[in-house]
Amino acid sequence: MLELFRGQSWYFEIGLATAAYVLQMTDTDVLLDDTARRARRYVSSIGGRAVAPSAEALDALSRFEEPLPVVGRSAEETIALLDDAGSPATLASTGGRYFGFVNGATLPSALAASWLVSSWDQNAALPVMSPAAAKISDVARRWLVEALGLPSSTEAAFVTGATVANATCLAAARDRQLAAAGWDVPRDGLFGAPELTVVAGAQAHSTLLKSLSMVGLGRERVIRVPADDQGRLIASELPDIDGPVVVCAQAGEVNTGAFDPFSDIVEWARERSAWVHVDGAFGLWAMSDLSRAHLVEGLAHADSWATDGHKWLNVTYDCGIAFVRDGDDLRRSFASVAGYLPPDGGYEAMHHTPQSSQRARQVEVWAALRTLGVDGLAALVTSLSDHAVRIGSALDDAGLTVLNDVVLNQVLVRADHDDATVELIAAIQADGTCWCGPTSWAGRPAMRVSVSGWVTTSDDITQSIDAMLRCARQVGAID
Ligand SMILES: Cc1ncc(COP(=O)(O)O)c(C=O)c1O
Repeated sequence: MLELFRGQSWYFEIGLATAAYVLQMTDTDVLLDDTARRARRYVSSIGGRAVAPSAEALDALSRFEEPLPVVGRSAEETIALLDDAGSPATLASTGGRYFGFVNGATLPSALAASWLVSSWDQNAALPVMSPAAAKISDVARRWLVEALGLPSSTEAAFVTGATVANATCLAAARDRQLAAAGWDVPRDGLFGAPELTVVAGAQAHSTLLKSLSMVGLGRERVIRVPADDQGRLIASELPDIDGPVVVCAQAGEVNTGAFDPFSDIVEWARERSAWVHVDGAFGLWAMSDLSRAHLVEGLAHADSWATDGHKWLNVTYDCGIAFVRDGDDLRRSFASVAGYLPPDGGYEAMHHTPQSSQRARQVEVWAALRTLGVDGLAALVTSLSDHAVRIGSALDDAGLTVLNDVVLNQVLVRADHDDATVELIAAIQADGTCWCGPTSWAGRPAMRVSVSGWVTTSDDITQSIDAMLRCARQVGAID
């Protein structure tokens, strides 16, 4: 019936008036108090619930399948639906026993900062739009460079995640290398440009190839260098090439946590003026832990580095960070000029990132670094890596095969038979005590255990090991 009146101007007027009424009727204080209560309940109960959502919770997601309302619904009821149907159908990845992908939890300071940042709703593109966001960015970028021990000239940029951080660095690398060959990529694009060779290890992360394709360098024209049994690029296999080159190294292979031999890669690169980029989505944080200096040797001599805040630093999604040794290389690729934009006003995020308008992601990074401090950051790397060592030893002692040297927070494990490995992963996910994901390693199934949440305790590890072994016995993977 309502459809009949849709095109009428009076109908439109009534719609606007109703929407305005619904908005007016929203008591913002009540709504935010209710939302804070719901959020607190979620956070405080996460440790006690099954890690994977129940079948019932998944079924209840059908409550979202409503038609787009013609007349707007109340904000209170909307948030209630979001919490009642949405919260139970989340993975408890902010709890202590989620070991899937490389998904960090959220530090309380980061979560609280993100609430405030959402309330501010600042556009962090330019200092003129948010002096607070700009000042905090200046401090957070400086602290990051210091905490990771990167060269003091290094400039940082906040983006949505490591995929975009890699793309940001690779765009800067591409433009710098081709500028040295007399070609202006930002002005003329890549058509007709001199050849730029990209080199990466055989175990480079899948998204690194996506990042390369995003910046016009292609997934398939990369020279792939063989990797060893831990997934480390074998430096002696680097090709004998010259001309403009970008080599992509990796700090933290996603299955094994292994680090490429950076000193050898840097030496090879220096001989041919190649740009060294490092994908350190989670592994870059090992730079903050002096006890892991042997893993990161030579890493600081690279030209660019990409990492995530939402992994090991445990800030909320979505936060990636691109570092480039010389900030001018970011500006070359990302500066954008328009009459309404003010002249240079210090570090302007929109001229250093692929984004224009952007969330003030730096605030959570700042809050996390401020509450952890240098020691807390190092302790975070150590403690999660120690948890991983404990899991690896227990599974190995029980008769499963641990495939990697547990040098960081990743454990890669399999049963003797592939079917048993697959069944083990399914059994662990169904059991609900903890959550581990599948992968393929050397052409066979394996299970990945990634300890990435600050919140994981020794007791979580004990409970998780018990559950993993219980499931392994259940599927006949061990006696
Ligand atoms: C080594 C590596 N690089 C890149 C990525 C992509 O990160 P993001 O999902 O934040 O884009 C990941 C994600 O796990 C990773 O482990």
